Amino acid sequence: RQSAVIAPSILSADFARLGEEVNNVLAAGADWVHFDVMDNHYVPNLTIGPLVCEALRKHGVTAPIDVHLMVKPVDRIVPDFAKAGATYISFHPEASEHIDRTIQLIRSHGCKPGLVFNPATPLNYLDHVLDQLDLVLIMSVNPGFGGQSFIPGALDKLRRVRELIDRSGRDIRLEIDGGVKPENIGEIGAAGADTFVAGSAIFAKPDYAEVIDSMRAALG
Ligand code: DX5
Ligand code: ZN
Repeated sequence: RQSAVIAPSILSADFARLGEEVNNVLAAGADWVHFDVMDNHYVPNLTIGPLVCEALRKHGVTAPIDVHLMVKPVDRIVPDFAKAGATYISFHPEASEHIDRTIQLIRSHGCKPGLVFNPATPLNYLDHVLDQLDLVLIMSVNPGFGGQSFIPGALDKLRRVRELIDRSGRDIRLEIDGGVKPENIGEIGAAGADTFVAGSAIFAKPDYAEVIDSMRAALG
């Protein structure tokens, strides 16, 4: 198994001090920056776009930026995020007319493609594309908002995707997003996740390092 990646979701950060928040959470031991893009169309909320990603890069952020697109359509925003410095770009299959084309588009712009599964989205979207992906993201909440509770059905999905990834023999990260906290991360890791998004669990606490340390301790 690959070593655990902690990817704080900046959705729960203080947007008025975003550069500082991102530097602080990385200094506290985070590995990646999870960057939630919502369009008030595919999901009922509106957040940040490529300009903010670029601003973080200009602010000196060198850590991987894990862009989670909750937008429809997907394709026309991909080149902008690549130019803005995204590392991973993940999208929801329901939001793309041509899933294979979108994956190739992300790759051709030099980014790492990921596919995202909502709580009710079936895993068979992976059947013909798993070998082209660098990341599979399992949603453990319905997308749109931070601070929701973990939907336990995600654990079974993680176990099934873990098996598919192991069988593929490829280097594909298995990420979980929604309601992750120190109290449940052990069980989530045991189900097969190796990449953990956490928004409110980290940014609602005064000491980010303490939360991140307790997450790593729970993962063993
Ligand atoms: C939800 C977003 C998540 C969210 C996670 O649509 O994709 O990344 O910010 O927040 P928490 O960890 O608070 O559930
Ligand atoms: Zn997310």
